[in-house]
This record gives sequence, structure tokens and C-alpha cells, in this order.
Amino acid sequence: MSMRTTERVLHTRTSDSCTIVIFGATGDLTRRKLVPALYNLRREGLLHNNITILGFARRDWSDDYFRTLLFDEGNKHSRVTMAESMWHEFAQRISYIRSTFEDVEGYQALAQQLDDIDTHSGTAGNRLFYLATPPESYEDIIRNLGAAGLANSAQGGWTRIIVEKPFGHDLASALHLNNVLHEVFDERQIYRIDHYLGKETVQNLLVLRFANGIFEPLWNRRYIDHVQITVAEQIGVEGRGGYYEQAGAIRDMVQNHMMQLLSLTAMEPPVGGASADAVRDEKVKVLRAVRPIPAHEVNRHTVRGRYTAGPGTAPAYLNETGVQPDSTTETYVAMRFEIESWRWAGVPFFLRTGKRMPVRASEISVTFRSAPLMLFQDGPMSRSAPNELSIRIQPNEGVALRFNSKVPGQANDIRPVTMNFNYVDAFGGESPEAYERLLLDAMIGDSTLFTRSDEVETSWSLINPIIEGWQMLNSPIHEYVGGSWGPDASHEFIGASGRSWRRLS
Ligand SMILES: NC(=O)c1ccc[n+]([C@@H]2O[C@H](COP(=O)([O-])OP(=O)(O)OC[C@H]3O[C@@H](n4cnc5c(N)ncnc54)[C@H](OP(=O)(O)O)[C@@H]3O)[C@@H](O)[C@H]2O)c1
Repeated sequence: MSMRTTERVLHTRTSDSCTIVIFGATGDLTRRKLVPALYNLRREGLLHNNITILGFARRDWSDDYFRTLLFDEGNKHSRVTMAESMWHEFAQRISYIRSTFEDVEGYQALAQQLDDIDTHSGTAGNRLFYLATPPESYEDIIRNLGAAGLANSAQGGWTRIIVEKPFGHDLASALHLNNVLHEVFDERQIYRIDHYLGKETVQNLLVLRFANGIFEPLWNRRYIDHVQITVAEQIGVEGRGGYYEQAGAIRDMVQNHMMQLLSLTAMEPPVGGASADAVRDEKVKVLRAVRPIPAHEVNRHTVRGRYTAGPGTAPAYLNETGVQPDSTTETYVAMRFEIESWRWAGVPFFLRTGKRMPVRASEISVTFRSAPLMLFQDGPMSRSAPNELSIRIQPNEGVALRFNSKVPGQANDIRPVTMNFNYVDAFGGESPEAYERLLLDAMIGDSTLFTRSDEVETSWSLINPIIEGWQMLNSPIHEYVGGSWGPDASHEFIGASGRSWRRLS
């Protein structure tokens, strides 16, 4: 079964004019994501004509070299081929400032250049700083921007700063980073980016829940048996073992993306419309209602794992470049959270994420309680499966509803069937990249899809004791064969509650 949209409602939004300063402009994120996103926004007429881009990094590059590299590299990653003619016009407003992040003179040069741009390019004093840098550099850049008087524009426009993940390595470092940010910027100027929130399906979660009459009445402990959130990656660490050793699956995926998905799934409807703070207030309330897993109980509520070799020539994690032979870093984690609210009491939320899984798939699935009839009747009814609503975040974005149907014929056989809504079938074409949405939101001043300081801190306060507990109890790291669905222990873990992990393809 499939559905097609019958109506389209378009709300076009365009950016303010502004200067975007990208710190770390010679790096991977800039060329793979940021520049293609800005180009595509321009192509779709969503960028103000006066947008000016300044790259800030330490390599000795000329403006021309910088532009050529951005075009060549951007074209490899853009969802649409970047046309030379349009790029040429766009690139006229891209330039490069060479400086280290530590050098105060670099920021004085930047301040001077920003003033010149405002005077000559009609950018109205609006400035967007983007920290596309290693997290160790955040503090230097933030303080140096403050010292150079760049936290607010003298021209009277707005100044905003986008901070890339990770927002801290643990609770203490997250608190420190927030303190440093707040010494220089107001919270309303700070846009902590989690690209998961820019994905169409994640945004659609709020629409699915709150713009439809049929789901919300069922969205509670009375009708929902449990929720599963899965982020499965097919790749391993791909040569980034050194970085991954410091992170592991819990920091890389759970603390940020998966806690975002959990809070959007479980939040109450925002009060007074969908203003940025109304939405974020409700998300924080969910996180505050999550029962913390005490360090001494981690082995009951979590399972961690690590991949071994396979399939084909894929190496074991311990043989990946940059990984310590005595590593205790997890490449898989499964956990169970309980949300202590009237809506969710008694409904477990199971989270799992891993590398070298059989497929790449991110999904939220909501399993409803079984129909009561099943309790009373033998025969075909007792073989019916519980209803399941699955929200596919990537790839093959869409929503599927599983329900039971009679098999045609004389027998009273029942079989689960699925009603599918697929983005490509319904809307055609490709959705914009998450970075397109989020960059535009930041330029417009809509912070709904960005993470507020209290969200970051509350999320870390839930994750920190788990990491501490693993260390304190020397918790086992269960091995799983690369290309499988995680360690046996994780299947036993969910199986102990009478449930099983959903099979994803
Ligand atoms: N790459 C992605 O797809 C991705 C996705 C999500 C989040 N992120 C986050 O985005 C941020 C940037 O990631 P990335 O992959 O782009 O990193 P990257 O490739 O290592 O780029 C870092 C940039 O910072 C510059 N830099 C580093 N130290 C400097 C210093 N002291 N002074 C001046 N410039 C300096 C580098 O210059 P050199 O070129 O001279 O080294 C480079 O331009 C990270 O926080 C990462 O977690 C990245």
C-alpha cells in the first residue's frame, strides 16, 4: 500500500543578508557539507543576495585557491551538481583570512574586514560565526571573538554563533563549554547544531504527532507497549580510530542524536504554539523525567559491545588504525530508559546503536499493546502481531504502520501487513540536506532545531553515570561479529523483558 500527497502547502523563507565566518574553512565539514548547503540554498533562491562568506583557517591559501578548492570538493558532495556559472557569481563573495585560532591579530583583521564588508556589501551588520573546528579550539575562538569586540555588531545587526558537536566530552566539560560561551554570548545567540534535527523525518516527527488527530490519543502508556530507537551504521571507524577511541558509541551517537530522538518522541505538545523555547522546554522536561541509571546498576540497564572481524576483509575494531590494543571503547551500545511521567510510566524506551551492523538504518519504532481479544482466544487471532508505527529517519525516509489483516480465502488466517508512506514516492525528488535547513534557520534566527544549554547538560547528566559505571564495574564488552546485529547479550537483554529487537532491512 502506498499514499500520495493530495495538497502542498508551501511556506517560503529566505535568509537575512549577513556575513558568514567559517572557522576551520580548510577542513572536511566546510567542503563536504557547509559550502554545498550554502550553494544549494542560493540555487533555490533562499539566500539573500548580499550573503558574504569568509573562511578563517591557518593554511597559506589565496582567495582564488580557496574558491577553486571549494568548487571542486563541493561538487563531489553536493546533492545537485554545482553549475559553474552560478558558482562564479556566488564565489565573488567568498574570501579567505589566514590566521591560527590562537593569534589575536587574526581577529583584529577579521573585525576590520567585517566592518568593511558591512560598509560596502550591504550585510547590515549581521554576522554568523561557524565553529567548524576541532572542539579543542572552541574556547580560544570564543574568547578571542569576545576580546576583539565581535560578540555584538557595532553596526546594530545580529551576531550568532553556530557550535558543532561534540558539546563536551562529559558533564564537566559540557558545563565548562557552556560557561565559556555564556561569558561572551547570550544563550539566544548560540546555535548548537545537531544535524539529526535538520533531517526531514526528524522534523516530521512533530508534525506526525501534533498535526494529526489519530496518533496523539494513543501516544501514552495505556496503548504503547514500548519504543525502540535504533541508529545502525554499516561502516566501521574508517581510519578514524584515534578519534573514536575518545568517544565510543555512547558519546558519538547516544548523548546527542539519540537523546534528541527520544525527547522528540516522548515530549508533550508545546504550549502556545511551536516557538523555539516552547519546543525546547518540552524536550528538556522529558530528559528531566528520564530515570537516571545509577553507576552501580549499569550492567542491568545497558549492554556494550565491540565488533570483531568480518564481513570480507573488514578488520576487527582492535585491529583498526589508531585503536589501542587494550581498548575499552564500545562500538555498540544498547540501553533501556524509563521516563517517569504520567504519560510514560512503565513504558520502556530501548536504544541501540552500533558500527558494522548489517545495514545502515536509523529508525524510531513504537510498538502498541496487543488487542485484548488475543488474551481470550486460541486460533488464528493469537498469532496476530502487535501494531507497530515505525518512523524511518534514514535511508528510505518514511513512516510505516503495521497492522493485522485477514489472508484472503476460506480460512480465518491473519497476517501482519504494512502501510507505507515513503518520502520519495509522496513528494518526489530529494529532501534538502540537514545542513541546508539548519544554516537557513540560523540566518533567519529560528533556534527550534538547535540544542539549548540545559538540554545538553541534562543529557550529559544521564550519560555520565553510565560511562562512570562501566569504568567502576569494569563492565564486560561483548564481542559481536562485524556485519551482525550486535552481541548475543543485547538480544538477551531485551529478551528478558519479553520483547525483541525489530528486524531492520
Ligand atoms: N566532517 C564532518 O562531516 C562532520 C560532521 C559532523 C560534525 N563535525 C564536527 O565539525 C567540526 C570540524 O570537523 P572537520 O571534520 O571539518 O575537521 P577538520 O577536517 O579537522 O578541520 C578542522 C579545521 O580547523 C583548522 N584548524 C585546526 N586547528 C587550527 C588552528 N589552531 N588554527 C587555525 N586553524 C586550525 C584546520 O586547519 P588545517 O586544514 O590547517 O588543519 C581545518 O580547517 C568538528 O567539531 C567535528 O566534530 C564534522
